[in-house]
Amino acid sequence: MRNKRIVVALTGASGAIYGIRLLEVLSNVDDNIEVIVIISGAAEEIIRIETDYDPSYVKSLANRVFSPKDFTAPVASGSYYFDAAVIIPCSMKTLGAIANGYANNLIVRVAEVAMKEKRKLILVPRETPLSPIYLENMLKLSRLGVVILPACPGFYHRPKKISDLIDYIVGKVLDHLGIENELFKRWSGEILP
Ligand SMILES: Cc1cc2nc3c(=O)[nH]c(=O)nc-3n(C[C@H](O)[C@H](O)[C@H](O)COP(=O)(O)O)c2cc1C
Repeated sequence: MRNKRIVVALTGASGAIYGIRLLEVLSNVDDNIEVIVIISGAAEEIIRIETDYDPSYVKSLANRVFSPKDFTAPVASGSYYFDAAVIIPCSMKTLGAIANGYANNLIVRVAEVAMKEKRKLILVPRETPLSPIYLENMLKLSRLGVVILPACPGFYHRPKKISDLIDYIVGKVLDHLGIENELFKRWSGEILP
């Protein structure tokens, strides 16, 4: 059976830990999942600012790593198959570039490829408050089939720790990737979707 191939990109929005946690889970979940990671320059800074991790650790969680400046990377072409791309966290800058077709780096290019090839694209934006420009960009992308999954954890599962809030969002991303997970307690009380 062909491996599932998922591109995970981290950009410079707050919430680097969401991307790190997703990569940790994906690296443990199933050997049949190949993970490609791209980390923007701003995201490298945010990882250092917000977490105790070094970007080298984050890269070590993936099977392949590409620089956001690498326009010749295989993922830049629609002929290179991947199943889904997740941008987590997604800055308003990157979201705006995707919404307007301005592929000035490999992360935006991957998103563009996912859209043109009708593959799953999940964006996890983090910003507050939201200006009309951000809202318009998100609406535009949502109408094109992009999953806009804001980093807005719920509280109905009675989170006890920060990691419960992180896992709520990462669990929702995994749901949209079609990957079974037990990262958060569902409203029904069931563990699995
Ligand atoms: C501490 C810090 C926190 C930031 N948080 C956010 C954020 O939550 N959302 C956002 O859209 N931009 C945020 N930014 C701004 C982005 O890092 C900035 O727009 C950057 O150019 C994004 O580049 P990238 O999308 O190529 O990674 C933050 C910047 C800093 C320094």
